[in-house]
Amino acid sequence: HVRSRRQRQMCIRDRLITGGAGYIGSITTRAIRASGRSVVVLDTLENGHRKAVGDAPFVQGDIADTQLVLDVCRTHNVDEVVHFAAYKAVGESMENPGKYFHNNVTGSQKLFEALQQAGVHRIVFSSTAGVYGNPTVVPVTEEATPDCQSVYAETKLMIERTLGWYSTTTPMRHVILRYFNAAGASTDGTLGEDWRHSQNLIPHVMKAVLGFAPAVQVFGNDFPTTDGTGVRDYIHVEDLAHAHVAALDHLAQGGHNLTCNVGTGFGTSVMQIIEATERVSGKKVPYQITARRPGDPAACFADAGLIHKELGWSPTQSLDDIIRTAYAWHQSHPQGHDS
Ligand code: WQD
Repeated sequence: HVRSRRQRQMCIRDRLITGGAGYIGSITTRAIRASGRSVVVLDTLENGHRKAVGDAPFVQGDIADTQLVLDVCRTHNVDEVVHFAAYKAVGESMENPGKYFHNNVTGSQKLFEALQQAGVHRIVFSSTAGVYGNPTVVPVTEEATPDCQSVYAETKLMIERTLGWYSTTTPMRHVILRYFNAAGASTDGTLGEDWRHSQNLIPHVMKAVLGFAPAVQVFGNDFPTTDGTGVRDYIHVEDLAHAHVAALDHLAQGGHNLTCNVGTGFGTSVMQIIEATERVSGKKVPYQITARRPGDPAACFADAGLIHKELGWSPTQSLDDIIRTAYAWHQSHPQGHDS
């Protein structure tokens, strides 16, 4: 049978991607589309970029706009959601906590309520390893007691808990992904992080090696780690994107609620990031040792066993892949997507 356009449209169900114009959101949107799914991106463009969405269906607006979310869900026949939209600057969250509680927590709660009304019952949520704070044991498992060291992390934990209650009291089912340190750029060099809006280590290292900053500051070299600098779990953003596809598969197949770490399981120090950058770029990275940053743990890396067991996911890209793609992206996009 040849279906009419309208009949075909009625059959197509889109995924709603909130925050899909951001760094992780745009790269994940691309991976979700590559998996054969159609999407609609919702983003305020406060921090995201229209260009990063490319030719994906796009609506500019806020997750807290209940009527808009309902309209988008109905027009696009949405049956599942990947929820990235949030503010994520840790320092700013300590200076302006209200902005974070309002946008992240209240906004998400309004989104969940609209999804309920629209009959959308599957959600993948973008959380953070920041909920572990200073883990007493590494690698850290999902069982560790949360110990948020910032308002930003607390907002993510509050949203996790809100979602937990929606999944207890309504037909909602969720996968919560606790990202470790998302890093790198798309392999084709077209999507990446805007270093003008990032406080994270790798964009700062790239700025220094590319001559856009005099030096990168190394926040402390007296931690109880092998070389004294902070140890983290850097995960390639495309590997992270594929974890979302696996989570959507899990929920579509009727899978149960999950909270999973998304990391490599390996710790890398600040000095090792600098060394890898020197290896990949063939240039010296100017750096300067400064004081520790308040609240920074010595080491935080994932036990990634659960996500491998439950979703069959494991990372495929190396630290050098992260550095190579980040270097290529920042070199060609010093103004992010405005370049
Ligand atoms: C990594 C390492 C720093 C900058 C934060 C959030 C987390 C997540 C990712 C998401 C640490 C050191 C850093 C610099 C440095 N946020 N460093 N010089 O702190 O692990 O995690 O970002 O949305 O929730 O807490 O990441 O990249 O800031 O730091 O020496 O200029 O690099 O001390 O050891 P972090 P980071």
